[in-house]
Amino acid sequence: MSKVIIKNVGKIFNAAAGQIPALQDVNLSVEDNEFVTLVGASGCGKSTLLRILAGLEYRTSGEVLCDGQSINSPGADRAMVFQHYSLYPWLSVIDNIKFSRQLKVNRENLTSSDVEAASGRADALLNLIGLNKVRSAYPNQLSGGMQQRVAIARALMGRPSILLMDEPFGALDAQTREVMHDLILHIHRVEKTTIIFVTHDVEEAIYLGQRVVLMQPRPGRIHSTFAVPLPAQRTQEMKHTVPFRELRAEILARIRQSTGITTDLDMLDQLNLQSTSV
Ligand SMILES: Nc1ncnc2c1ncn2[C@@H]1O[C@H](COP(=O)(O)OP(=O)(O)OP(=O)(O)O)[C@@H](O)[C@H]1O
Ligand SMILES: [Mg+2]
Repeated sequence: MSKVIIKNVGKIFNAAAGQIPALQDVNLSVEDNEFVTLVGASGCGKSTLLRILAGLEYRTSGEVLCDGQSINSPGADRAMVFQHYSLYPWLSVIDNIKFSRQLKVNRENLTSSDVEAASGRADALLNLIGLNKVRSAYPNQLSGGMQQRVAIARALMGRPSILLMDEPFGALDAQTREVMHDLILHIHRVEKTTIIFVTHDVEEAIYLGQRVVLMQPRPGRIHSTFAVPLPAQRTQEMKHTVPFRELRAEILARIRQSTGITTDLDMLDQLNLQSTSV
């Protein structure tokens, strides 16, 4: 059975201006240890879908199964990483990573060996993200890329089997993003998590994903799915190969076609249309 099964999921928001159909009839299955990327124009429901998977948002129709269980609330099997690092500024790097586990230890009166095991896990994660040297530093002493590494380690602390990432590298510069791409692929291999990763960036989606799922707006739904024809072990040079460039061009063309936006003037029209309809 697939790790994640999304069946006919719909979401309608009740806003002051009326009902907003954010998602309609979304169907998607994700396999265990798969890395799936979600792309699509702004407002097509990517974050809403991810939040429903995380159990942070209710769906209005349909069903979501993780390991065969229906999802209606957050759970330790799923962790989420957001664009903004949201670290605790008063805690050091290592304490940020341990934080959620510490809460659990306090709550469940675990033994000292459980606490030690948690410390070992935090140390292993610190190594995995390459930040051992700054374990005692505070978030405001770190670059954006380093902070996001800590946020990823913190998400992995409870050994989630599904990692949900919503534009996690959106605020980073191009060079740092490349480094983070190779890091997250490494983490995916080592931790064997299933990853569902939302991005605006088609190149990022192809480089990371085994499959790219394209969503389209009004109402948000799945437009098409593309298998990525690249070797599992990615290298930055692959971005310049013909299969990579062809897939990128095809996905970009489909995004333009599905949104009716081909120029920045079309975008302006769309925005005017949205503001007059609200
Ligand atoms: N809490 C909310 N209340 C009302 N409408 C909402 C709410 N959250 C999202 N929406 C609407 O639902 C639709 C989908 O939004 P969502 O944030 O999921 O899109 P997105 O694909 O993540 O966009 P972006 O790429 O800009 O992050 C949009 O029309 C948005 O305005
Ligand atoms: Mg979003």
